[in-house]
Amino acid sequence: METCSAGIIGLGMYVPEKIVTNADIEKIVDTNSEWIIDRTGIKQRHVVEADVTTSDLAVYAAEAALADANLSAEDISLIIVATATPDMFFPSVACLVQTRIGAKNAAAFDLVAGCSGFVYALITASQFVQNGTYKNVLVIGAETLTKITDWSDRNTCVLFGDGAGAAVISKVADGHGLLGFDLGADGSGGELLKVEAGGTRMPASAETVANKLHFIQMNGNEVYKFAVKIMGATALKAIERAGITVDDVNLLFPHQANIRIIQAAAKRLKLPMERVFVNVENYGNTSSASIPIALCEAKAAGQLIDGENSVLVGFGAGLTWAACVLKWGGIVK
Ligand code: UT7
Repeated sequence: METCSAGIIGLGMYVPEKIVTNADIEKIVDTNSEWIIDRTGIKQRHVVEADVTTSDLAVYAAEAALADANLSAEDISLIIVATATPDMFFPSVACLVQTRIGAKNAAAFDLVAGCSGFVYALITASQFVQNGTYKNVLVIGAETLTKITDWSDRNTCVLFGDGAGAAVISKVADGHGLLGFDLGADGSGGELLKVEAGGTRMPASAETVANKLHFIQMNGNEVYKFAVKIMGATALKAIERAGITVDDVNLLFPHQANIRIIQAAAKRLKLPMERVFVNVENYGNTSSASIPIALCEAKAAGQLIDGENSVLVGFGAGLTWAACVLKWGGIVK
């Protein structure tokens, strides 16, 4: 089979209207806006209403990405949704999206890799395009983390937000698109960031609910140390495999979890912050949605320039990490 280059030909995003500011959170738990901004960089987050689900956000982002790529839903052969907050165990969010947008020619599955999920999914999608199996693949990172957040736990409730971002992956001219990547996991760190109950190990019961075991539990300090170590390392591997150097990286898109983690990654890569995309102040940590939302905003601001290289890098529950290098442009009309 003939191989080709695969890249992003369309981007879309959606965040719910409702904004929860740090001042709003001050009224719920013992915290203050100064602490939150100083330790995380977050000023506000978007939060869904009770009747809105992850698939709702995914559908809106998908429709925007299809419009941006100038494609219809029937042109899509595969949908991959990266999420840690699916509507339900099954069917998958990808199947819910498939029927809602009318992508009747598409296979569909979810991919679970925590906050690294979008980059994992993007790289997975690219394999199908590169080897000629599928022409257009829709990749979505969508989360409603605020629904599994313990709003009485100040260690976690200040961090998360809801949203979705989507990308259409298709053939691009040789030498463009995905140039190199690195994927990794360390399952021994799984205890650091988890939702303990509701699965087959600890099925939902009155006791699990009373003990708040359906909410996110996190060892923030340990996840922080892991993130600072891994972000630079995995990005450097992807850069090396792409056959470029850090000097050739025009824009870094780190997972938007914490400004201090982002700054540490930039420092490790010796990249000035002017070449790092940051929007964590507006959205908080939207997990697998954070990188595609950032890409979408960068595109709207004219920052995704043909011929320039971006590095996407994420880390998350699992533990997992993922990085890739994308060269923009080369879109085949
Ligand atoms: O996408 C992956 C998901 N996870 C992450 O990215 C999280 C990675 N970790 C982090 O971002 C940071 O560890 C946090 C932002 C969660 C915490 O920051 P930190 O600088 O590591 O703070 P800490 O946990 O060491 O806590 C310092 C102090 C503690 O008080 P004591 O024990 O020193 O008296 C906490 O109780 O800050 C206290 N604290 C707060 N104070 C005010 C913790 N949360 C809050 C809060 N407001 N919301």
